[in-house]
Amino acid sequence: MPKLTIDGKELDAPDGINLIQAAERLGIEIPHYCYHPALTIVGNCRMCLVEIEKAPKLQIACNTKVAEGMVVHTQSAKTKAAQKAVLEFLLINHPIDCPVCDQAGECKLQDYYMEYDDQPSRFPLEKKVRKGKAIPIGSDVMLDQERCVLCARCTRFFDEVTHTSELAIFERGDHNEIDIYPGLPVNNKYAGNVIDICPVGALTEKDFRFRMRVWYLHRATSVCAGCERGCAIDIHHHRGRIYRYKPRYNPEVNSYWMCDEGRHDFVKLQNETRLTAPLVQDRDRLMPEEWGVAVRRIASHIEATKKGYGAHAIGAVIGAQATNEEAFALKRLMRDTIGSERLAMVSFTPPGLSGDDSFLIRANKNPNTRGLEALGIPPVHFDVFAKAVADGELKMLIVMRADLVRVMGEAEFVKAFGALDYLTVLDTDANEMVQMANHVLPIGTYPETDGSFTNFKGRVQRISQAFPPPGDALTGIAAIARLGHAIDGTERTSDANAIFAQLAASEPPFEGMSFDALMPHGASLKGVAL
Ligand code: SF4
Ligand code: SF4
Ligand code: FES
Repeated sequence: MPKLTIDGKELDAPDGINLIQAAERLGIEIPHYCYHPALTIVGNCRMCLVEIEKAPKLQIACNTKVAEGMVVHTQSAKTKAAQKAVLEFLLINHPIDCPVCDQAGECKLQDYYMEYDDQPSRFPLEKKVRKGKAIPIGSDVMLDQERCVLCARCTRFFDEVTHTSELAIFERGDHNEIDIYPGLPVNNKYAGNVIDICPVGALTEKDFRFRMRVWYLHRATSVCAGCERGCAIDIHHHRGRIYRYKPRYNPEVNSYWMCDEGRHDFVKLQNETRLTAPLVQDRDRLMPEEWGVAVRRIASHIEATKKGYGAHAIGAVIGAQATNEEAFALKRLMRDTIGSERLAMVSFTPPGLSGDDSFLIRANKNPNTRGLEALGIPPVHFDVFAKAVADGELKMLIVMRADLVRVMGEAEFVKAFGALDYLTVLDTDANEMVQMANHVLPIGTYPETDGSFTNFKGRVQRISQAFPPPGDALTGIAAIARLGHAIDGTERTSDANAIFAQLAASEPPFEGMSFDALMPHGASLKGVAL
């Protein structure tokens, strides 16, 4: 562990890290464009120049490893002059786009100009080299060649991570520009990551451009529910609407990346079909009802069914889109409150989505199949359930976060479950199964819920509520708590942290875990080695 000094502060740094990483540990920022911790070092932007005592000239911090006795200055006159000069050079041909650029607010040229340059341009506007603007280059990516600082992060991502090499730097000198090869657009399932790593407004997202100024966006820490990988993400939202997902670094799951399917997973959560009030079937129409009335009426059906046919005449099916906390709360409701062990999981993947690849994407499009398995909830066998209905042993079904009509097809669903006395659905949208339910309780989507998912490798990660569910909808755990209270009069918590504590205390695979300790990178189920 070499000991070095940066700006007068001493540090014992791990072997092999560079000066940008070492300075970061001391809370010192060394500005940089081309360096990215997950890509090879090219050292082409020169923004990270620092003064190192005994070195004959300034050195780039990204390509300088820590060494014993090194003394580094990031604030000296020589370093500051170099930073100013590099920025002036980078800005010579940069267009005056800031007021209309969609990267404003998260652009490293803007930020560094204010922090390290702050001088008027000496270059005449009419002499700037003009290049292409707003060029659709494939996938969801728009290219503005004039804004590019030629850091080569995007080309390295496609060369080193996806190995698809769609982008390259063409031409010479101040005519250098990023482009695709003629007739070969960007076409891979991870293209959106170049938008995230481009430090300026040269690569932007077609779907997001000009939809929202970034300083209005709030962030919630979460996990993508697009497949069982569970990539760590930040949800960017404003006034109850999601505008984009961005990958969040998790070395145990997704590094810095996410796939494009997952990046757009939020679109389906914001449909006009969202349920905003409990509904009851009334003369072949679903009519809104107060929560108190709805849960009391469902509870009285549960009581009547128990009395007439026994607790096992009540069953439940939960989708693997549910959180660990929702699954645990429903399991307890079924087993401890109602007295039925008839609880099963449906882990459904719609057709037409990507299969397993060698990077992140998984064919199973459910974020929590492994979590429900770890809670001892078996996969559903529809034939067993259907036989129980046909034999008169199953009279009432509670279905949470699973559209069984979509899973089974309408004819099969009606054949299997048409003879049920009572169907209660807890879901987010007015799907086809909801239309057939006797009672519907509206619940929040996963960005509207606190909780956790367990990925296919057994990594348990937290999701945080970005904003509350719409209208009178409740979070899934709050809905189960309301129903439980209506059945036995006992108050239950609807706090995800408290439910996770109960879960960790009673479910062996989760033993020893704490909700707070799941931030930021999660924890592995007991006995799981990554
Ligand atoms: S487009 Fe962006 S990431 Fe690519 S070289 Fe230019 S500035 Fe760098
Ligand atoms: S790999 Fe799966 S979890 Fe990751 S971003 Fe894509 S869909 Fe989401
Ligand atoms: S970050 Fe070091 S040269 Fe670009």
